[in-house]
Amino acid sequence: MTADMYGTIARPASQVLSEVTITDQEFRLFQNLIKAHTGIALSEHKRNLVCSRLGKRLRALSLPSFRKYYDYLRDEAGQTELEHFVNAITTNKTDFYREKAHFDFLEQEMVSAWKARVVRTGKRQIRIWSAGCSSGEEPYTIAITLRNAIENFSAWDVRILASDIDTEVLDRAAQGVYPTERVADIPKPILERYFLRGTGSRAGFVQVAPEIRDLITFRQINLQWDPWPVRTFFDCIFCRNVIIYFDKPTQRRLMERFAAYLKDDAYLFLGHSESLYGMSDEFTLLRNTIYRKREGKGSATPPWATK
Ligand SMILES: C[S@@+](CC[C@H](N)C(=O)[O-])C[C@H]1O[C@@H](n2cnc3c(N)ncnc32)[C@H](O)[C@@H]1O
Repeated sequence: MTADMYGTIARPASQVLSEVTITDQEFRLFQNLIKAHTGIALSEHKRNLVCSRLGKRLRALSLPSFRKYYDYLRDEAGQTELEHFVNAITTNKTDFYREKAHFDFLEQEMVSAWKARVVRTGKRQIRIWSAGCSSGEEPYTIAITLRNAIENFSAWDVRILASDIDTEVLDRAAQGVYPTERVADIPKPILERYFLRGTGSRAGFVQVAPEIRDLITFRQINLQWDPWPVRTFFDCIFCRNVIIYFDKPTQRRLMERFAAYLKDDAYLFLGHSESLYGMSDEFTLLRNTIYRKREGKGSATPPWATK
């Protein structure tokens, strides 16, 4: 074998790994399979993305075509591959303090409302669901915001459920370890108080402090599952930058199900380009992408009791 001017070793022609292309029919099969498993509606312009992400799975399994990969996924033997398949398809972009206005609202408006509720009910309990939490930046930002905004925090019972369909990002979320570049924009006092700096082999990384990690339960939940393995009414659901991948009927059904899991007057946050416009009468719009559940829109029977 010979090396070129960049030192790259050229493979003999017989060893060149040819790119496998996806046919129209194969793409349609995967569109249907992905929709059925995840609710994600892939449009034609995602074809290259599907081809490159699933192409990696084809190579990992030494399969010669997308059709063979599809057949494998449908076969009983390929059931464990479904997890890799789903993980390969999801888009996990996220950030600490993404859409900061939401965390300002949480700190300034919602915490005050919950403090006022203590006066009425004597209960210091907050339940939040980060649905589609990706690698954890969203639920950690929620936890840090609450920890920082509530003075006598230890007197409160605060729990955050953080869920995603993608097991690979969830594993990372549960560890709470991030390269320092990922936290570069977090204000220094917050960073120093709620993150531990790695040393030695962990230099260049930070880990979220245990007092914050302990507030969160990470679980795999596919929002398409019915029922969900959740038995709690929430004060707030964050489902941001998730429904954008679903079609309208799937979004509508999901919002109805979220409404059933929210307490009266509870809050729902969507992503910056998502909206309930013309979709749901269970919520009123408070401000851009922040919704409140209408009083009396819930059923007295918990959704988990009706399944
Ligand atoms: C773009 S990320 C958004 C992360 C975070 N909420 C944010 O706004 O920064 C979308 C997440 O939704 C998850 N997701 C997609 N379909 C899902 C489903 N059916 N059930 C649960 N999570 C899903 C993906 O795995 C991905 O991590």
